[in-house]
Amino acid sequence: METTINEIADNIFRLSTFPDGAPLPFNQFVVRGERALLFHTGMRSLFPLVSEAVAKIVPLAELEWITFGHVEADECGAMNQFLANAPYAKVAHGALGCMVQVNDLADRAPHPLEDGEVLDLGNGKRVRNIETPHLPHGWDAHVMFEESTRTLLCGDLFTQFGPSAVTTTESLVETALQSEDFGGPTALTATTGPRIRALANLEPTALALMHGPTFLGDASKELIGLGDGYDRMFEDTLAARV
Ligand SMILES: [Fe+2]
Ligand SMILES: [Fe+2]
Repeated sequence: METTINEIADNIFRLSTFPDGAPLPFNQFVVRGERALLFHTGMRSLFPLVSEAVAKIVPLAELEWITFGHVEADECGAMNQFLANAPYAKVAHGALGCMVQVNDLADRAPHPLEDGEVLDLGNGKRVRNIETPHLPHGWDAHVMFEESTRTLLCGDLFTQFGPSAVTTTESLVETALQSEDFGGPTALTATTGPRIRALANLEPTALALMHGPTFLGDASKELIGLGDGYDRMFEDTLAARV
């Protein structure tokens, strides 16, 4: 088992580990400005590999922010191990997520992010918080958008099972919709499609997936396609009920 490191946009690094026997890879992202932000920590068991990989990009003592899409083992299992080894780092999570989850779970008090709040990392790197409750799952769910590279750190959105390339320009929509067959990871509601399509207004040019490749290209079209697909699934669910 190894953690690979690839720069998928200017000073945004994808760390990827495919544990033996796992159905999909686990990706973390480091955004490096004058200060650095980590998006996802990986599970506790991955901490030795992931922290070693992070340290190749930025010394842990220079890590300022530890962030993740929602509270779940693969997103933030190693949060406290990072806090213990990155003495100046702070966890940043949505204000509601801090109230219901992270205030209690984190060994140091987190920074509650407002919707739309920007973490300015210096050197032009600006990471904006966008609250997306229950998208794809979790009351505390949010995504983050790095403005200078138009990279959407989209967490579990577009999840793919199996091995993946580092980057792709091929559409992810159909594969993502098929992934719903694996336990239905997305909380399908009437707001799922509209919330995903709203992200298209950011006009991202990269989608940094937690479980899959990084998509490079017309990401707005991908988000609209995914939102429409979930709308169809939700309507099918309603139709099957009567
Ligand atoms: Fe998740
Ligand atoms: Fe995940």
